[in-house]
Amino acid sequence: MKPIKLSLKYYHRHFILFVSLVCCLATNVLSQGTVIQVETKTNALVLQVSKSKDLNILYLGEKLSQSGEYENISAAYRQTEDYSGLLASAYTPGGSRNLSEPAISVIHADGNTSLELKYQSHKVDKQDNNVYLTSVVLKDPVYPFWVTLYYKAYIKEDVIEQWSTISHKEKGPVTLSKFASANLQLKAGDYWLRQYHGDWAREMQPEETLLTHGIKTLDSKLGARANLFQPSLFMVSLDKPASENSGKILFGSLSWTGNFRIDLEVDHQNNLRILAGINNYASAYSLKPNEEFITPAFLYTLSNEGKGLASRNLHDWARTYKLVNGKGSRLTLLNNWEATYFDFNESKLAALLKDTKKLGVDLFLLDDGWFANKYPRNDDHAGLGDWEENRQKLPNGISYLIREAKNNDVKFGIWVEPEMVNPKSELYQKHPDWVIRQPGREEHYFRNQLVLDLSNPAVQDFVYGVVDDLMTKNPDLAYIKWDCNAVIYNAYSAHLKNQTHLYIEYVRGLYKVLQRLRSKYPDVPMMLCSGGGGRADYAALQYFTEYWPSDNTDPLERIYMQFEYSYFFPAIASSNHVTEWGKQPMKYRVDVAMMGKLGFDIVIDKLQPKDLLFCQNAVKLYDSVKQVIWQGDQYRLTDPRQNNVASVLYMDKGKSKGIFFNYLVNNRYAAGSTHPIQLQGLIPEKKYQLREVNLYPETRSMTAADKIYTGEYLMKIGFNPHVRAGRTSVVVMVEEASK
Ligand code: GLA
Repeated sequence: MKPIKLSLKYYHRHFILFVSLVCCLATNVLSQGTVIQVETKTNALVLQVSKSKDLNILYLGEKLSQSGEYENISAAYRQTEDYSGLLASAYTPGGSRNLSEPAISVIHADGNTSLELKYQSHKVDKQDNNVYLTSVVLKDPVYPFWVTLYYKAYIKEDVIEQWSTISHKEKGPVTLSKFASANLQLKAGDYWLRQYHGDWAREMQPEETLLTHGIKTLDSKLGARANLFQPSLFMVSLDKPASENSGKILFGSLSWTGNFRIDLEVDHQNNLRILAGINNYASAYSLKPNEEFITPAFLYTLSNEGKGLASRNLHDWARTYKLVNGKGSRLTLLNNWEATYFDFNESKLAALLKDTKKLGVDLFLLDDGWFANKYPRNDDHAGLGDWEENRQKLPNGISYLIREAKNNDVKFGIWVEPEMVNPKSELYQKHPDWVIRQPGREEHYFRNQLVLDLSNPAVQDFVYGVVDDLMTKNPDLAYIKWDCNAVIYNAYSAHLKNQTHLYIEYVRGLYKVLQRLRSKYPDVPMMLCSGGGGRADYAALQYFTEYWPSDNTDPLERIYMQFEYSYFFPAIASSNHVTEWGKQPMKYRVDVAMMGKLGFDIVIDKLQPKDLLFCQNAVKLYDSVKQVIWQGDQYRLTDPRQNNVASVLYMDKGKSKGIFFNYLVNNRYAAGSTHPIQLQGLIPEKKYQLREVNLYPETRSMTAADKIYTGEYLMKIGFNPHVRAGRTSVVVMVEEASK
């Protein structure tokens, strides 16, 4: 793969080209009609208005330099008749001529179920030099019913966010039966879908299949913790499965923290139609006249150079535009969850605060179990909802612990799960109407708890108050872990008139709370946890600094999971903790956790002296390389699913410093790095020195530290980290040689 080396001149040239294209948008008329080009650095989404004013997708893919040639593409791919004339619709209306899955279907105020959408106008707003928002207004010719399609293009990152707004001026409410965010069409010989499934402790298990004719749906109906069984993250390779560095591939995901539905339909002409949006399951939405329904953003990036480039583009985009403080720093920490579970008191915690300092990390994170008195939170059956300090465990409250932390020169953070309630709690007894439950039916629990009804503004205030009270009383509180451990069963809101709005209003309520918190506390680091990665999506992550990929911290499992997550989320957002899970030695566990935001959840006091020394040194080393891991470019060099050794390199943007992690993932006889691993992202002419770091006490490196290599050599021939039994995990620093 060519290293991405973009000079200012390059951007300037492309920017001029882009502006000139934008300027001629309104007048860009091909033989058929108005053409709207949504362009990024390398790709174009080309829309065309037909003679009958339908808005169609002419093309989505790598840009062509002669824009007049886009209109030849459809004919080149056409195999049979497009009977409806809607196959390529940019937003397929249901109930009129459509023969394929619609993007939108409605029941009008008068009961009629037909919809047509005709082009009315479009405009392009330049938001800054890198971000352009194209909007296209469509209207039903018979009903006062409008849809506006939005395409937000991030030029440099090759990313598009796409959504729609729906409104009308009919005589009464219109029922929206389906309301997609995006409706795309791709053309290729074959389409290969890479999707993910999972469960608790088994997140991000990939499956790759050839899409056949018909519809493949990825969806969630879980309401909260919506990604537990399946996230909305997916990839589609065109023609053949893309590799890390070659092939055409689209990465997509819906930025929505609730039920989603993504339909991938291979139609009778062999086009791939992708329809992505909120799941319409049990969610028919009654839209009042003049009200606007805004769908969440469908996010996608297209790469013509494989998965690696797509992921690096997404990482750059996420750090610049989504994550809280994405370009900033993060806190290393010691967490007490697996060290104590619910069993702690002030003196145990005082010792852990000392251990935090001893270990050398920035912060101590107090996990579940610190609250509730009438029904103390001593296990996961009681107390959720009652957010005052447990007087037995913490007689002097959180503020005392924060003072103690300060005395130890470390920061203090805390766990909350404010959207949930145990039936065994004062909150449940006081406010049964705040709980999502069917009034006439037996309750069914997920982790012994129920979900609060965030569609209710009083509940939003309560949930906001849980964190706001903690922060107000303890302004030095430096970190929040926000958990969400249950799905929604028996969906019913005592607050809502319209029950089919609950799944949607729940998520909107959650965002309102998070928005309020972020406007008052813009900088406090917050971890997005959902019993693991049950909630990681970019709509939620715009309020968080990081996410918890999985409760499964067995480092071998984490290599696989972190590998897949890393396609979509940058390392700075991945909270990786060293725990007692798995059978790997301490070095292996720490090395794996370093590939992201490092934390520990072990009993420091019980560590063997050598393990402790190793961890202390590892924290120091991490502090010296974390900027490269967090802000650099990630290259997956060897895939654990295809090799005995998994290898990942992070290089800083200046290509002068990197860190290269290697792990043995197979214990068969003689398994190891039998040949050099080719690096990526270096400058061929530059000279580099490679030095093994993070050595376990009293072990020696197998690699000569004084050897100098050119970038060309390291990328063409490679470097053998000598991974094998006895050296199961090897970390190598890559530095520009001074001589
Ligand atoms: C979830 C989280 C864990 C821990 C527990 C506490 O399972 O994923 O990290 O915080 O809750 O109950």
